[in-house]
Amino acid sequence: MKTKTFLGPALGLLLLAGGLVGCGQGQRPSPARGAKWTIGVSQCNLGEPWRVQMNQDIRDEAGKHPEIAVVFKDSQNDSLRQTSQIEEYINAGVDLIIVSPKEAAPLTAPVAAACRQGIPVIVLDRRILGDGYTCFIGADNVRIGRSAGQWIVKRLGGSGRVVELEGLMTSTPGQDRHRGFREGIKSSEIEIIFEADMKWLEPDARREMESALARFPEIDLVYAHNDPGAHGAYLAAVAAGREKDIQFVGIDGLAHEGQAYVRQGVLAASFEYPTGGREAIETALKILSGVTVPKEITLASRVFTPDNVAGGGELLRDD
Ligand code: FRU
Repeated sequence: MKTKTFLGPALGLLLLAGGLVGCGQGQRPSPARGAKWTIGVSQCNLGEPWRVQMNQDIRDEAGKHPEIAVVFKDSQNDSLRQTSQIEEYINAGVDLIIVSPKEAAPLTAPVAAACRQGIPVIVLDRRILGDGYTCFIGADNVRIGRSAGQWIVKRLGGSGRVVELEGLMTSTPGQDRHRGFREGIKSSEIEIIFEADMKWLEPDARREMESALARFPEIDLVYAHNDPGAHGAYLAAVAAGREKDIQFVGIDGLAHEGQAYVRQGVLAASFEYPTGGREAIETALKILSGVTVPKEITLASRVFTPDNVAGGGELLRDD
């Protein structure tokens, strides 16, 4: 990708500070006085604790570096709106974009367009298609899914009736957590009796689980692609008086969400999916300073169970 010629920061700051750019939903960019570079963050939604945490991690790390100013946009779970936001950042001449895309396909072209115009783009957590971006940062979702599958096989003694509640299947973590999980249970006698796309959303997971409970008198375990999904399923089971017969496994492992559910005995396990917010800012600073960064940065992940949660969980390894 070509490097940017500047005009960039001065023009960008002028446009942002002058409010000439539609910043959406009353968000005004910070004045960025004294900052050398402006980073535009496009977050696909702020309806889930995990994404609020990602923005916080970005903010905390950026706060240590007076040479950068960060502006945030929330696309409210709408790929079209997220596409426009990337275009707005391009027009504003920001120095770098961090995007956590809702879906892979619709965000591919706008991200590639930013790159073509010399604006580096860090893609965080969910992928786009192709390689028209600067750097991808995220944990390995196939590996997380596979580890969850292997853990569940052990937990159920090799066989059992399992419900899989999937994350949005037009987003890459949903696809990868599904594929990895199926690999992990491949040589077992686990039977997937019900599977549904709950789009990462707790209310959808609850509704899907109500259908599963109505259809199947025996369910041993629910594997949900995120902790809100596992919790929604748990609430459905509580309402049906069946939560004691079923185990629940989720992904994310936030301290105040998944780990708390594990401590409360709601979840049998939660697999960590780090937000990557800190690493995104560290990487952005390197790119802006002209340091070459790898195309992929893979973050480590841990599993939290009632036995290890107090000690900080256990690093994932395949077995
Ligand atoms: C939040 C979330 C997380 C999940 C991640 C995957 O929107 O659904 O729960 O781990 O996105 O991209």
